[in-house]
Amino acid sequence: MGHYNFDEIIHREKTHSVKYDLRTKNFGTEDVIPMWVADMDFRTPDFIVDAIKRRAAHELYGYTFIPESFYESFQSWMKRRHGWDVRREWILYCPGVVPSLVVALLSFTSPGEGVLVQTPVYYPFFPIIVNNGRMLVENPLEIRYGRLCMNEDHLAACLDEKVKLMFLCSPHNPGGMVWKREELARLGELCLKNKTIIVSDEIHADLVFRGHEHCPTASLTEAIAQNTVTLVSPNKTFNIAGLSASVAIIPNRELFDRFRQTLENMHWMIPNIFAITAFEAAYRGGEGWLEQLLTYLEGNLNQVMDFMEREIPKIKPIRPEGTYLVWLDCRELGMTPEALKAFMIVRARVGLNEGPMFGTGGEGFQRMNIACPRSVLNEALARIADAASIKCD
Ligand SMILES: Cc1ncc(COP(=O)(O)O)c(C=O)c1O
Repeated sequence: MGHYNFDEIIHREKTHSVKYDLRTKNFGTEDVIPMWVADMDFRTPDFIVDAIKRRAAHELYGYTFIPESFYESFQSWMKRRHGWDVRREWILYCPGVVPSLVVALLSFTSPGEGVLVQTPVYYPFFPIIVNNGRMLVENPLEIRYGRLCMNEDHLAACLDEKVKLMFLCSPHNPGGMVWKREELARLGELCLKNKTIIVSDEIHADLVFRGHEHCPTASLTEAIAQNTVTLVSPNKTFNIAGLSASVAIIPNRELFDRFRQTLENMHWMIPNIFAITAFEAAYRGGEGWLEQLLTYLEGNLNQVMDFMEREIPKIKPIRPEGTYLVWLDCRELGMTPEALKAFMIVRARVGLNEGPMFGTGGEGFQRMNIACPRSVLNEALARIADAASIKCD
């Protein structure tokens, strides 16, 4: 394995990239450095590209089933990276984590029943719940000592007999909290007591900074495992979001069968050839690349933290413990949501995600994706500092 160059600038314009080619649609201008939708501006690693090329070279792409080697590669990764023995018979393939959230909701709840989320949170959680006629129940997170924290008393109060499901984001997007074992254990026990099934979206599990450790919710206790559906994907870790591959891990046989039945009803069981090829290659060969990526991302994060403290003290980033997303507390700028949006897009010319889309607690915040070459990050930071100095003068 060689040394990977994350400083390389790869032009993504005119590739139908959501992040680049939908800038005008999203921001009303192309003149922003795009730091919004969660994919990275780094090359997908060679061991994945090579595996796809090898498969493509066969030149016949008929219906394909998932080979055992796919599962072995994944199980081995989970054991090595997360110390969790995932059994083969717990795993179901699904074309994406967001589709899996929908499958879980349809499998385990009925219209009118409650689904709990902890806001601010990954925005597709809301339409999945509301557009499918379920009731949104919120346990807003609180900022304590520069960290987003769960309000456990409020959580306990939210959990009544109508709340059948919880969408847990672990690590958390936005905010990047890598929930601690004790936090998850308390949450797991509360949900068990109330018979609320946990859907643990662990798509960011591999992107964890030094000093923090991701704990799979279902690895806590056997009882919690029996009450948890875990969603995992190589999509964020290895920058293959466009390939749509994921798995659900469901140790409880009854929940497994209900989830599989919904997948079958939707006829989602036949995978995309390139998705499963990339998935297997990622988990088989990915460690060395991931270590280098994490070092680079941590360098970017330190740059954001230092620069903002020095040059833009009115913007206070919440330091993420994982993910490549930084939740910027812009409340001291004293702007309305509309003014803050215009400040970022028009004045600073950076394209971030607006806080309010993440629900309660999002006002006054912006989410910044820092998975880009350092030179691009530095340019974006300089632009925000310039805009802020004009505003402050
Ligand atoms: C918490 C979370 N879940 C799911 C997804 C997307 O999953 P997929 O593309 O596999 O549907 C994202 C992407 O940003 C995410 O942050």
